[in-house]
Amino acid sequence: MCHAPAPHTESVTVIANERVAPGVGLVVLEAPRTAASVQPGQFVHLRIAEGADFILRRPFSVFRAGGGRLEILYQVVGRGTRVLADAEPGEGMDLIGPLGNGWRVVEGTAHALVVAGGLGAAPMGMLVEELARRGVAVTLAQGAPTGERLLARELFEATCRRVACATDDGSFGACGFVTGLSADLIERDRPDVVYVCGPEAMERVVATQAEAAGVPCQVSLERLMACGVGACLSCVVSTHHGRKRACVDGPVFDAADVLWEASEDPEAHPAPDPKPPAVAAPDPAAPGRGEA
Ligand SMILES: Cc1cc2nc3c(=O)[nH]c(=O)nc-3n(C[C@H](O)[C@H](O)[C@H](O)COP(=O)(O)OP(=O)(O)OC[C@H]3O[C@@H](n4cnc5c(N)ncnc54)[C@H](O)[C@@H]3O)c2cc1C
Ligand code: FES
Repeated sequence: MCHAPAPHTESVTVIANERVAPGVGLVVLEAPRTAASVQPGQFVHLRIAEGADFILRRPFSVFRAGGGRLEILYQVVGRGTRVLADAEPGEGMDLIGPLGNGWRVVEGTAHALVVAGGLGAAPMGMLVEELARRGVAVTLAQGAPTGERLLARELFEATCRRVACATDDGSFGACGFVTGLSADLIERDRPDVVYVCGPEAMERVVATQAEAAGVPCQVSLERLMACGVGACLSCVVSTHHGRKRACVDGPVFDAADVLWEASEDPEAHPAPDPKPPAVAAPDPAAPGRGEA
């Protein structure tokens, strides 16, 4: 999981594409080369269609991979994902992948807490399967606005030792945010590691909870991406080790490395020079402004 395979371009075919929740679809792609090499937490850069709107590829996490196929959970938010939602079986696309550094699983991990908020479930399918394959006991805390937006519950129920859910409207599981669940689960169970994906504000809260308990925490960060391969700097993440590119250095980062506030980034706001610049004393003999 630590050694990311080299990315390649692959022509892929849509095998199935269905709506799984309001505004959310699951597309299955025949992509044998990528499916054989992608690691949990990595993503692909998908060219959804031809034309000017699609010159820039769209990044998507791989939810599951196997049998020559990739599964991608996607939320319809704009032009690209609307076209993706209409893609029919048999249609062709192409992708670059696998990209980025995914989740790290440290030897000896016995118990992992996985926290997924909304679409944050998208990079978690392969992760929980890999953890289960290694004999790690997985607790999943999942949150969504409503019960019908809790994604991939079947897979999570089948793979994780325990699943705890929270919904904003209380229609399934606890009423409230998933961060309420993660606070209890970190404090009470002291997992060996916490893996988090969801809205950045939620990730930050869980990272703080894990840090307070002394539990290592990894977060998958989303940034606008243009090139996806480290060349354009559109996806910068500020860290204690300088500025990193989410597409090649992430999207998974150690939460303790992340500078969550732009104001914490010394490269964004260089500290003022402690010594004021030397100002030459005016030469009383020199001509003033406007004087010849
Ligand atoms: C590493 C990574 C993995 C991702 N994995 C998934 C996934 O598994 N499933 C999923 O549904 N989405 C995922 N996203 C977000 C997804 O890439 C965007 O939602 C998608 O590119 C939007 O394309 P669009 O043409 O429909 O929207 P656009 O018309 O381009 O934009 C519509 C809205 O989406 C926002 N948006 C556009 N691109 C991104 C982006 N790269 N990141 C965040 N917001 C964006 C825009 O700011 C705008 O508000 C991921 C993003 C990254 C960086
Ligand atoms: S998207 Fe271009 S450097 Fe990351």
